[in-house]
Amino acid sequence: MTYLSTDKVEHHVHDVVIIGSGGAGMRCALQLADAGHRVAVITKVLPTRSHTVAAQGGINAALGNVVSDHWLWHMYDTVKGSDYLGDQDAIEYMCRAAPLVVKELEHFGLPFTRQEDGRIYQRAFGGQMREFGEGGLAKRACAVADRTGHAILHTMYQQNLRAGTQFYQEFFALDLITDDEGCQGVMAWDIAKGEYHLFQAKAVILATGGAGRIFKVTTNAHICTGDGGALALAAGLPMEDMEFFQFHPTGIADVGPLITEGVRGEGGYLLNSEGERFMERYAPIAKDLACRDVVSRAIALEVREGRGCGPNKDYALLKLDHLGADFILSKLPNIHELALRFGGVDCTKDPIPVQPTAHYTMGGIPSNRFGEVVARKGDDCEAAYPGLYAIGEAACASVHGANRLGCNSLLEIIVFGRACGNQVMRHLKKHPYHPELDKDCWQKGVARVDEWLKKAGKGSGMPISEIRTQMQTIMQEHFSVYRTQDVMAEGVEKLEALATELPNAAMSDSSRLFNTELVEAMELENLMSLARVAAAGALARTETRGAHARDDFPERNDADWLKHTLASIRDDKVMLDYKPVRMKPMTVKSFPPKKRVY
Ligand code: FUM
Repeated sequence: MTYLSTDKVEHHVHDVVIIGSGGAGMRCALQLADAGHRVAVITKVLPTRSHTVAAQGGINAALGNVVSDHWLWHMYDTVKGSDYLGDQDAIEYMCRAAPLVVKELEHFGLPFTRQEDGRIYQRAFGGQMREFGEGGLAKRACAVADRTGHAILHTMYQQNLRAGTQFYQEFFALDLITDDEGCQGVMAWDIAKGEYHLFQAKAVILATGGAGRIFKVTTNAHICTGDGGALALAAGLPMEDMEFFQFHPTGIADVGPLITEGVRGEGGYLLNSEGERFMERYAPIAKDLACRDVVSRAIALEVREGRGCGPNKDYALLKLDHLGADFILSKLPNIHELALRFGGVDCTKDPIPVQPTAHYTMGGIPSNRFGEVVARKGDDCEAAYPGLYAIGEAACASVHGANRLGCNSLLEIIVFGRACGNQVMRHLKKHPYHPELDKDCWQKGVARVDEWLKKAGKGSGMPISEIRTQMQTIMQEHFSVYRTQDVMAEGVEKLEALATELPNAAMSDSSRLFNTELVEAMELENLMSLARVAAAGALARTETRGAHARDDFPERNDADWLKHTLASIRDDKVMLDYKPVRMKPMTVKSFPPKKRVY
């Protein structure tokens, strides 16, 4: 093995490099490290600050601990919830694997909340029913109070420390190293020390989470800047279905933090300014536990028709005080604290002001149920890109299609983190040696930082923070819960104009050590690429499906649009392509599209 000879860049060699230390990355790392592979996890934060920590309500598995359940009912709900855009082979795989991976988590030490009989506590969540929608609410979300993501992340971190995974924390991924053979590694920047690092690996896994920060009001942390997707775009790969962005119905009004759907799963409900339980009109069967797209649209319509609450009549109220303070403080302690801190409301006494809030990136890097990144090669649009994998919210497997079910995201990260680890092991068997790297492979990554540092303190353009605010405002105002041609076309125009400002943006801090402005500049580059592909995909899709709700095309159009969008950036232009939905499950019969009612 020849090490790269440059004193500018430190060269590391691992079997596998995983970018991102959320639940997906860490579950994958654990699978590989436990099998004896040399695994590195590169993360721009401390691992336990990854955004999985914010997930609240639970992880779905048809355990049937409270009422009878079956993975096939879970699969049906997921396909229906996806508005039939989900790939049914991947959905079957995920729902079948759910009970196994949840029990595995339990054995890793995950401190699940317990029922009286000692079994895992499960609660109801939106869009999830028994017996193919005929048998009343399912109780499928396995919960650790309302801090399930926090518990998963910490359990995974502890297990990885035991297994010997090597963490490179506060490292920012700059550029994927690719050649004709596939992906060979990644260039990264040590944020604290201001140094370049080249990670050479036989497999690189993108597990960088979502891109909620393309919007202004979001449940997503500041770190959710879609870094993996932007790396893929820069490497010439497309992003899939980015127009489908989930708005969670109950973010705290104006500020965004998540109030778990588990509140409604436990019996809380929404009210409009007339004190009416308005969900009964929109979803007569599931009511407040309809799917998220349905509930978000209902709140938006109530506001539009003048029945919003508060001085500006722009939010709904989430009432839960009737559940009792003891219940709230034991099963929903986190949202009690969030409502108090961010909404100024004691929810054991008063309802919480809530609004649909940007929550989840349903699109992502095209991948399959093995975590392999797939791209078009001739006629084959599912050809695996050698050595490159994507999992979790960064990826589009596509198990969520046009609308994700609550608690399927924690499930996805664990199921596909594990499956990807297994697939990477098969790859490692076939590829025992690291290929020689191109001697200049580090240059693009280095240039990315150097360009910014060179112009620091000199530029006369807009500040980075101003460009970011403008981008988030455009996305919020032009690509929100309801969309129309004119509004979106104006949004695309504004966004494309704003994107041209970014290379000339003004940066004041030229230091190499812990330069957070530099990190924000590169995060903004990432966000901007993703916002552009999301906006272009949304404008092109002339139908309503799941979270993509168009006033001007109010119906789903399967004849023309039962297909995935693939958006790439070539010569700085967004290009759109499409590929079929995988309607055929692995072993069971397909669920064909039908009208979605709740
Ligand atoms: O409402 C929630 O607890 C969120 C869960 C999820 O997005 O899966």
